Amino acid sequence: MNSRNTFQKEVIRKLKFSKSLSPLEKNIIIFNENNNYIGRLKPLDAGLSKNNEVIYKLTEWRSRFMRHFLTQFTTTEEGTRNWLERVLLPNDDIILFLVYNEGDNLIGQIGFNQINENSAAINNLIQGEIHEESQLYYYAEKALLKWGLNTLKLKNVYGFVLVDNFMNDELSMSVGLKMSDNVPLNKSLLVNELRLLFGESGRNSSDSVYLQKVELNLDEMFSGVG
Ligand SMILES: CC(C)(COP(=O)(O)OP(=O)(O)OC[C@H]1O[C@@H](n2cnc3c(N)ncnc32)[C@H](O)[C@@H]1OP(=O)(O)O)[C@@H](O)C(=O)NCCC(=O)NCCS
Repeated sequence: MNSRNTFQKEVIRKLKFSKSLSPLEKNIIIFNENNNYIGRLKPLDAGLSKNNEVIYKLTEWRSRFMRHFLTQFTTTEEGTRNWLERVLLPNDDIILFLVYNEGDNLIGQIGFNQINENSAAINNLIQGEIHEESQLYYYAEKALLKWGLNTLKLKNVYGFVLVDNFMNDELSMSVGLKMSDNVPLNKSLLVNELRLLFGESGRNSSDSVYLQKVELNLDEMFSGVG
């Protein structure tokens, strides 16, 4: 982040570290199309980063959905704790929200990374638990995008989805993200992890693995244009 987006930095730091925010200031409420409350997005803050249920679920989900990520490794609760403390909390260009359903059960996660003045990447969308409100994640993603427009003043968002990640691919399309580049990936095997590295655009992937970029103009989306 640069000095021009100090306000974004402040918003994110407050959500992660302030103890004086009210629940309404802290949470993003998820409404359905009838304006009924169906859940909330709660920022993963310093307090929640030490919560055992949160650590357990994040670790289990990352393990279960590992094939949808570019960095693939064996998860441990200790590893998740370290990642939250050393990467997620201190970096002002990343924020992760936990998805809670109407009954206040923790069922998933979604966030932004690479946040800068005009754009951010939707990231880490995991539909972790089965839920009764069939379109909860659809409305959760929309609520996050609206918050990105109104609070972070973002103009564009984008995301990357591995091409066999049908669940997130379908969800992103239904929310309004449009396909752009298709990036070939190449496998690189390290001691304890597999990394999928960006290949040259327009070439084939030697491992037949591709990453679909999706993107969206937020003004157009919420003004009903496009
Ligand atoms: C975009 C995407 C494919 C990129 O994959 P990725 O680079 O592995 O993404 P992550 O942000 O989870 O990982 C970044 C780092 O955090 C680390 N990390 C994340 N969760 C961790 C955990 N529970 N424990 C330890 N480390 C963790 C990773 O090891 C990685 O480390 P690195 O910086 O050394 O590479 C992935 O973030 C993603 O979002 N996949 C789901 C699909 C999606 O939601 N797309 C957007 C919707 S449009």
